[in-house]
Order: sequence, then structure tokens, then C-alpha cells
Amino acid sequence: MQIHINEDKQQFHLTNGHISYIFHVMKNGQLGHLYYGKALRHREDFSHLQVYDVPTAASCHIYAGDPAFSLETVRQEYPVYGNSDFREPAIVVERLGVSHIPQFTYESYRVLEGKPSLDGLPATYVDRAEDAVTLQIMLRDEFLGAQLTLQYTIFRDKPVITRNACILNEGTQPLVLDRMMGASLDLPDKDFMFVHLAGTWSRERYVKERKLETGIQSISSIRGASSHHHNPFMAMKRFDATEHTGEVYGFQHVYSSNFLMQVEVDHYDVARLSVGIHPFGFRWNLKNGETFQTPEVVMVYSSAGLNGMSQAFHNLYRDHLIPSQWRKVERPVLINNWEATYFNFDEDKLVNIASSASELGIELFVLDDGWFGKRNDDTSSLGDWFVDYAKLPNGLASLAEKIKSTGMKFGLWFEPEMISPNSELYREHPDWAVGLQGQPQTLGRNQLVLDFSRQEIVDYVYEKMAGIIRATGLAYIKWDMNRNITEAFSTKLASNEQGEFFHRYILGVYALYEKLTSEFPHVLFESCAGGGGRFDPGMLYYAPQAWTSDDTDAVERLKIQYGTSLAYPLYSMGSHVSAVPNHQTLRSTPLQTRANTAYFGTFGYELDPLSLSDEEREAIKIQVEFYKQYRELIRDGDFYRLRSPFEGNETAWMVVSRDKTEALVGWYKVLATPNGAKQQAIRLIGLDESMVYEVVSSGGHYYGDELMTVGLQLPTEFNGVNAQVAKRGGDFQSEVFYLKNIANKKI
Ligand code: DGJ
Repeated sequence: MQIHINEDKQQFHLTNGHISYIFHVMKNGQLGHLYYGKALRHREDFSHLQVYDVPTAASCHIYAGDPAFSLETVRQEYPVYGNSDFREPAIVVERLGVSHIPQFTYESYRVLEGKPSLDGLPATYVDRAEDAVTLQIMLRDEFLGAQLTLQYTIFRDKPVITRNACILNEGTQPLVLDRMMGASLDLPDKDFMFVHLAGTWSRERYVKERKLETGIQSISSIRGASSHHHNPFMAMKRFDATEHTGEVYGFQHVYSSNFLMQVEVDHYDVARLSVGIHPFGFRWNLKNGETFQTPEVVMVYSSAGLNGMSQAFHNLYRDHLIPSQWRKVERPVLINNWEATYFNFDEDKLVNIASSASELGIELFVLDDGWFGKRNDDTSSLGDWFVDYAKLPNGLASLAEKIKSTGMKFGLWFEPEMISPNSELYREHPDWAVGLQGQPQTLGRNQLVLDFSRQEIVDYVYEKMAGIIRATGLAYIKWDMNRNITEAFSTKLASNEQGEFFHRYILGVYALYEKLTSEFPHVLFESCAGGGGRFDPGMLYYAPQAWTSDDTDAVERLKIQYGTSLAYPLYSMGSHVSAVPNHQTLRSTPLQTRANTAYFGTFGYELDPLSLSDEEREAIKIQVEFYKQYRELIRDGDFYRLRSPFEGNETAWMVVSRDKTEALVGWYKVLATPNGAKQQAIRLIGLDESMVYEVVSSGGHYYGDELMTVGLQLPTEFNGVNAQVAKRGGDFQSEVFYLKNIANKKI
């Protein structure tokens, strides 16, 4: 891992043996991009990588003496608009009332061991300085009186570069930022598929793929959350790349609010990628001496297809994003009472659920919505973070003790950012809600949003939550957020500051997370936003797991979890077994298939254990035991997607331990096939070719290469006449196979 600097040529080359990222100072002092991709050997001069050509007459060039130097034809690092580049820029900044085209020219560089943190923002980090090296490039615009710092970090042994930008107003005049992206990248051509994740509530993160074309294509959110609808993730996949081979570039925005991920393919087929806070509605005032720091952009390069890209994200997030205290910890198997009771519970019911679940081996009881204020449905009480004595007459601390006496840990649901118009808090502080009082305020799920851009409101919520954590010895918090932001307006911001609202709001959310997680590092946070409406790397920095979706139907979960795995590690995905008919789809799937799907995540239950049959209880005991046995493998292993639910009736995936001595394979078939093929095998990936593996369920022994070329034979399917030998059949079938290396065995 190294940063080579060709001082005389002013060229910078970040490399770690897996990837290279190369850029230079151009003759006009701006930064030009030269290369990003598979590692290149360093050389004394990379100037030849700057391709330039005389642009056509309709274009402009900026050097009279060099007709071939036009910003329109060179690739750049952090472009501006206004002189001769007519594509969308990385930054738009003005000195109020003065016409000026930004001219950030190179000033100096700095190399730092390790990786500095970003003030107030979530970002990847290293525990040891030797795990990353950072290059900071300082640029200056004299007229604006502004310094711009572009920061690049390369990680040891990971095909990852992270970027961000920071501007400092050093002048005497106020500046206004209308756009400031975390990163801009000019790829040399447009021969890519644009891959991203899209959906809505209860079908989050479906995989979408389309050919990159001339013009602008983008995904975004202007909802005040990263959203159910578009995840802050995109990948550029070469046409010949597959799941496991070929070149893929992946990008993520480490941020939980409005974002834009855009690709502009120009008339010379250059693909300009822009990733950052959405410029729509964004306007930031920068007074003298102030800085504005963008969120981080993670860039991953894979020469092993989409799956290689996913593994790079997974490894980065497991080692360098989730809170370090949760990295190697086994997450508890939990039971959540939401679908078991909704708002209708009392202390006895909860304690009975907990003790019944405890007998099944479940380790954590989570009391969901409805324990506070007077909340018997979703029309009231958000903000009133005191116990509802009508439901829980002995109080929360007493409930917590009773739950703990069943052998379970105790966890609680909060929706810290919200306020119900029908709440004591609202009656006392109507001005704490986002929006202009006296003007229409749109309700979402009957609630308004608290103005988290205001410090005193964040502090108030902190006091309430901290008090409850202390009083109950909470082990876990589910932090929900059930609506997006409308009428975005803060009474505490001046009219010319309202463009700062969304960013200030999320900084408030991060500040509360930061305060709570540092004071209570033993509390496990699970983020949630009406299911997976804020499943993003920003949240993972504080909460190592996220509720993947409110949709717990096993068939739907195949798609949701498969899509989510493109960017996020299995252990970040809250995945639970719920009752049937499923509450979101009314579909009934076998209990084992629900568990077989949920195993590939952080496992739990979302049902009433008191209404289970004896047979179901026995099955669940075995499931819980099974998960406990393999959760370390699921947490630390390499994940491989084998068959896509978006392409057919079957899904398959597997996790292989780092040392390749064990693996867990999940296979799922939605609809039964009448009298189907006899030879049905899943070709595995990631095993050691020469190791002998036992497939524990069948006792069969196979070399890794056979399992990866011939495949793992599936049990015989029912075909109408083979009842004596058939081992599976019917709709919604699934199998999970555990494979273990038998050391020193020859077969
Ligand atoms: C939405 C969440 O996704 C659910 O799991 C549940 O916590 C409800 N909110 C409670 O209101």
C-alpha cells in the first residue's frame, strides 16, 4: 500500500497491489484524472494517459497556445462549470453578488498514515495507522478566498479508495455553496451496465440493471432519508462481466439523507460519475473561517465480477465501518413482539412471550412500538418517552427485570426523530416539529418530524433515551424512522439558511447516535426506517445491524436479501422468521423455509411463541441452535451469490469460512416443478479445490473441485410417483447444507 508521487510531473499514484488510482496536476493548475482500475506498475511518468485532442468548433479551449487543451476533452478529478467544461460539475460556489467561475488550482499535498475521521459524519476508519494511507490535495481559488482539500484514502489489501472534499472559507466575504459532491470520477468510456438497487416499502433493494447511454442517468433521494426507493449504491459493470468474473466498479455514499449518484455520458463517451449530497434544495452559507465537509464516497474495484465487488464492500464494512466493539461479537437471536401483538399487550403478555421464547433458546426480547405515552395505535404519543402505566402498571424497569429473569436480555423500540400532534410534547412544543407553524404540515403515518437541526431538541431526546437506558439496563435499541420529511423548514434557520436544513437535520441524527453509542457502547443498535428505508453505510457506522424490510415473507426476502447483499454484509441484515399467512403478502411458506432464508442475516423471530404448536416449538429450538452454531461463519465468512431470484424460480447462495474449511449453502425454489430434471445440482464457489468436504446432512464426501464443477446434488424431488424416494417437493422448498472439511482424508 503506497502513494507514489512523481514530483517533477506532479503525478499521484495510489496503489496497493490490487488497484491503482492515478491523477495529476494539469497545465492550468487543475487536477486531471488519469486512471482508476486494476493495479498498474508504477512508472516515472504517466503523462501519456492524459488523452487530449482538439475539440470541435462548437467547443472552447482555454489555452490560446495549445488548441488541444480544453477542459471539455480532458478527464478531471473535481470539475467546475463555467469555462470550457459543459458537463455537470463537482462544485458550485459563489461569492455573493460577484460573478466568478471557480478556479481551484493546485497548491500542495500531504500524506498521512492512517485515515482522519470526518467531523460529525460517519466514515470508514482504521484502528491501526498501518491499515491505510491518506493523500490530501490542497487547491486554492484566490478570488474566492477558499481552500479546497480533496482527500483520498487507500486501504491495505482491499480494492478500495475512499474520497471526500472539504472547503474552507479563508477570505473576508461569505461564500455560498450550491453543490458540493464527495467525489467526481471520469471513466474513459461508456461500455458499462449501470447496476443499482431500487424499490419501495416492503420490497426494498431489488436489483436493477440497464445499459449506460449518452446523457444523464441517475439515482437519488430528496426525502430526507437515503430511502426505500433508491439505495446510495451504484455499480458500473462491464458488458462481459458476470457475477463472478470481469470488471465492476462499485460506489456508495456514506450518508443517510438526500443524495445524488449520477452518470453523465458525454458526446465523446466519457462517463462522468458524481456522488454526493443532492444539490436540489441544498444551499450552504460559508462564513469566514468556516468549513464544509462532504460525506465520504467509497469506491470499490473488482476484477471478480459483481460478487467480488460485494465481498470488497462486506470486508470494508465489517473491518472499518461498523462499531469496532461489535465486529467480533455474536449478535443475540432475538424475538420482537411487533407482529405478535402490535399495540395490544400488557405486562403479563410480554413476560409470557419472553419466557416462552427463552425456552426456545432465544436470547433477546425486544419490546416494539406502543409502550409509551398513550399509544394504542399509530395516531399518538411519539415524543412522549415515558412508560404507559395503563399497559405496564409496574413500569419499564420492573418489566425489564422480569424479562431478564426469564434469561433474556431486554431491548426497546424508539422512534427518536418523531412527534405526534397528539402528544404531550407537541402540546408543549408545537414549534419543535419540522415545518412552518400556521402553514399546512403534511402528516405521514399520522406523525410529524422533530427538528433535529436544533441542538436543544437533540439534547432533549438524548436525556429521555439515556434515562431509560440507565433505568432498564437496555441491551438493545431498535431506532425506527417511519416517514420522510416534508415542508422542510426550521424555525431556527433564517430564510437564506433553509437550504442547510436537510444536512443539519441528519447531522443532528448522527450527533444523537454518537452521544448514545459512546456513552452506552454495550447497547446494540439496530437501525430501521419503516423496514429498510435508511439501510445505508452512514447508519452502519453507528448501528451494526439494520432491519432489512418489514416484509418477512420468505419468498420476498430472497429478493430483498439478495439485493441488499450487493453492498452490505450478511451480519448487517436483520432477518426474522414470522408467522403465516405472512402479514405483508398473505403467503404461507413452510417454517423451515422461513428459517432457511433468515439464517443468512442476523437471525430472530417476529411471531407469538404462545400460539405455536408443540411441533413448531421443537422445530424452532432446532433452528435457534443451528443458527447459534453457525453465526460466526455467517458473520465472518465470504458470501457468494449462486443463483438470482430475479432471474428464475430458484435462488442459491453460500458462505465460506476464510480458511475454506467450512461452508453453509442455502438453496430455495419458489414453485415446484412437475416431473422435473433428475440431475439437479448447485455448482458451488469459493471452496478449496483439493479439500475433502463432508456434506453433513447426507454424509457424502466430495473434493472441492467436484463440488465446484459437477456441483452439489440436490435431494430427489417428488414427481407424482416416487413417494418412496422423494425427499422434497411442493412450493417454497428450501435446503441448507453445511459442508465441513475432513482433514487428511483421501477419497
Ligand atoms: C416500522 C418497523 O419497520 C416495524 O418493524 C415496527 O417497528 C413498526 N414500525 C412499529 O411502528
